[in-house]
Amino acid sequence: MTATKNPIFCAIDTSDPAKAARLVAQVKDRVHGLKLGLEYFMANGAEGYRKLVPEGVPVFLDVKLHDIPNTVAGAVKSLATLKPTFITLHTSGGPAMMRAAADAASQSAQSFGSPRLKVLGVTVLTSLDKSDLAAVGQGGADVDVSAQVVKLAKLAKASGLDGVVCSPEEVKTLRAELGPDFELMVPGIRPIWAAANDQKRVLTPREAVDAGASWLVIGRPITGAKDPAEAAAKIAEELATA
Ligand code: C5P
Repeated sequence: MTATKNPIFCAIDTSDPAKAARLVAQVKDRVHGLKLGLEYFMANGAEGYRKLVPEGVPVFLDVKLHDIPNTVAGAVKSLATLKPTFITLHTSGGPAMMRAAADAASQSAQSFGSPRLKVLGVTVLTSLDKSDLAAVGQGGADVDVSAQVVKLAKLAKASGLDGVVCSPEEVKTLRAELGPDFELMVPGIRPIWAAANDQKRVLTPREAVDAGASWLVIGRPITGAKDPAEAAAKIAEELATA
């Protein structure tokens, strides 16, 4: 897909519901949507999700499911009641697990008469290098991490997933390999004026969109700014006008 004018999902990385609510109120009108991950969801659950998310605001719910197909299908159906726009699972769970998740998303949409939630795959965590992959048996010591990312992303597409989460350095290759309609959700984004924090390989919002990102996950450059609303607006403006 081509990136929309405002492709930002703001990462609300906290377990504190009051802090999360403050951030959401500050940024919700300046970004496309919110990213909620395990930190918030494990602490506050479905009830915390319902309390936090304003009506109509898209959510990328990054729960990284990984289990047998039947269990993952059940989890997708449970998550579908919250009506997130995107959820995630680990592609290393295999093609049957991915297919079960995609089918469960379609069935839930039919039974609720609501838009189908999109299922994104996590390929190789960016915290893993080739020795880590070899240690868990994903190829020998000479395994090429980026080849493994492409392999898992292609498997995700063939298994009915809507896209993958990928690092800035993978966007260009994955866009070329997977075509224009595959969703690429990209964290590791830093405007020129923001600190890199612990992100090692970053792209600016504009660079990421130009490389083929569908959506940008941006946390601390917005949530750690003195004025989060202003920071979010500044990034959105830079993207709209550059
Ligand atoms: O604060 P920052 O912009 O670095 O936040 C990025 C968000 O994207 C965080 O929620 C982080 O967990 C997530 N993420 C990441 N790098 C990955 C995968 C996810 O930074 N490889």
